[in-house]
Amino acid sequence: MAIFHKTLGILGGGQLGRMTALAAARLGVQTVVLTPEANSPAAQVAADTIVAPFEDKKALKALSERADVITYEFENIPVESIRYLQSLRPVLPDDRLLEISQHRISEKTFLNEINIPTTRWVRITSAEGIREALLGWGARQGVLKTTRFGYDGKGQCTVRLDSDMIEKWISLGTSEAILEEHIDFTCEISVIVARDKLGQCAVYGPVLNEHRDHILARSTVPAAIPGEMAKTALDLSERLAEAVDLVGVLALEMFVTRDGRILANEIAPRTHNSGHWTIDACAVSQFEQHVRTVCGLPVGDPARHSDAIMLNLIGSNVEQATKFLDIKSACVHLYGKHDVRKGRKMGHITVLGTPDETTQRKLLCL
Ligand SMILES: Nc1ncnc2c1ncn2[C@@H]1O[C@H](COP(=O)(O)OP(=O)(O)O)[C@@H](O)[C@H]1O
Ligand SMILES: [Mg+2]
Repeated sequence: MAIFHKTLGILGGGQLGRMTALAAARLGVQTVVLTPEANSPAAQVAADTIVAPFEDKKALKALSERADVITYEFENIPVESIRYLQSLRPVLPDDRLLEISQHRISEKTFLNEINIPTTRWVRITSAEGIREALLGWGARQGVLKTTRFGYDGKGQCTVRLDSDMIEKWISLGTSEAILEEHIDFTCEISVIVARDKLGQCAVYGPVLNEHRDHILARSTVPAAIPGEMAKTALDLSERLAEAVDLVGVLALEMFVTRDGRILANEIAPRTHNSGHWTIDACAVSQFEQHVRTVCGLPVGDPARHSDAIMLNLIGSNVEQATKFLDIKSACVHLYGKHDVRKGRKMGHITVLGTPDETTQRKLLCL
């Protein structure tokens, strides 16, 4: 079928692009990556790379000439660049989903419009507004976040009624922010949805996510939550995919509250770190679903053949990777990043099934 001779353009050169390119290669789909970074994780496994800023029109045009269809692997690509590319080639998912998820206020507004519950939130433009909102909600604590470019807990801080609001506001360095009610959650979960051109969905999860220093540390499937809650999380995620007429993959991060509600936290308009286990625990991974759907193929079966735990190798923890090479149920993934930096995602390990005692001990070192 001609589809397998397609070339997929990927904006972004990180590990998500790398794992997408690997999944594409397995389907005979070549990839060409556009990234500002030389020798990026994705470029190391792609057929071709263009090293240029995402705003570089000449480079974008060159990408469109080499690719049949274009996608992105992270959400901070300028929407203008996507729109320019859309005038030349199909770009999936489209600019609408990207635009919604790039701005925390448009994200929460959209979620609420389609009846997906979130934390209480308000737009903030000055220090005075913070205390006023907390008092209005009868809340002691909130989370103040920049509207754009936040990731791994960057661009956010906790505010309490007794905080120095001026200091907090200044520390954010922005003229517009969002204040959310602080949720005393029992756990955090995510669902990953792939949807094809015919509107068929494949869903993974809910996945239980544990963070350390605001960075995802461990994902577990199945998440130990009641079946009713799991169903709600899956339904909400599918509702979102349908509402944006998704062609591609998205993830919805959610909180499970003490009183059993599911509140959406954040949309990722792409494959997600909490879905890496799908490479080893499912016949069709989130990355293959992404390639399939944007290349016009149908979604595959998302069923998992094994339960799984995924641990991120962050910063110098990457040195622990060799300890897992002799563990039968462990799948080691390294992203080809040469500089080890604090907080940098260097790789991950997926352990299939229930870990035995030796594996448990090694996992505790991460
Ligand atoms: N309103 C909130 N209440 C409680 N915890 C929160 C809230 N918002 C964020 N957090 C915590 O901070 C983490 C990162 O926040 P998030 O909004 O997902 O931003 P990002 O992942 O872009 O850094 C969340 O996974 C959660 O652990
Ligand atoms: Mg998040």
